[in-house]
Amino acid sequence: MNAAILSSAPITLPALPYERNALQPVISENTLNFHYGKHHKTYVDTLNKLVVGTQFVDMPLEKIVRATAADAEHVAIFHNAAQAWNHAFYWRSLKPKGGGEPPAVLKALMDSSFGSVAACKKELAKAAVEQFGSGWAWLVQDGEKLKVIKTDNANTPMTQRLNPLLTVDVWEHAYYLDYQNKRVDYVDAVLDKLLNWEFAVKNLG
Ligand SMILES: [Fe+2]
Repeated sequence: MNAAILSSAPITLPALPYERNALQPVISENTLNFHYGKHHKTYVDTLNKLVVGTQFVDMPLEKIVRATAADAEHVAIFHNAAQAWNHAFYWRSLKPKGGGEPPAVLKALMDSSFGSVAACKKELAKAAVEQFGSGWAWLVQDGEKLKVIKTDNANTPMTQRLNPLLTVDVWEHAYYLDYQNKRVDYVDAVLDKLLNWEFAVKNLG
């Protein structure tokens, strides 16, 4: 692809930080082919079409999300931009052979905010399972404290003065091919085997 073609699409689909089969058996290559290769890609492609001729055309993705979050006129741009951002964040929230014991700095924050690592994970799992319909469960930093929140559809804590540390996608497209309606099994497996605690530590403010 030449530079001229690239420059006409300012928001790019970021490369996955691992191979498409690297999250197996928790998340199959088939799911990543659809979820990353089609759903995430479509949000990016749609966004690039929608911003043509608008004030958002030369903005970085994060700025588009913030600029359109409370803007009734640009709901479609917000939805696609926020979903593009949330997905890029989700892929980095996971890693092959993840889960396990969090690094000391994160563990200390979990202990002071939730009582224990187990209590923090329990709250994150609860948010992920109880989010009604499509959405996201998040571990966020709010000043000195960690919190668990859930957002619906494309909504994202980065527009709510909260610092996101990790997310779990609970749209059906994230798990339906592998788990059908059993969201709880997907959530438990992701929390125990794929969460990238080092990414959360990198995001600490
Ligand atoms: Fe998704």
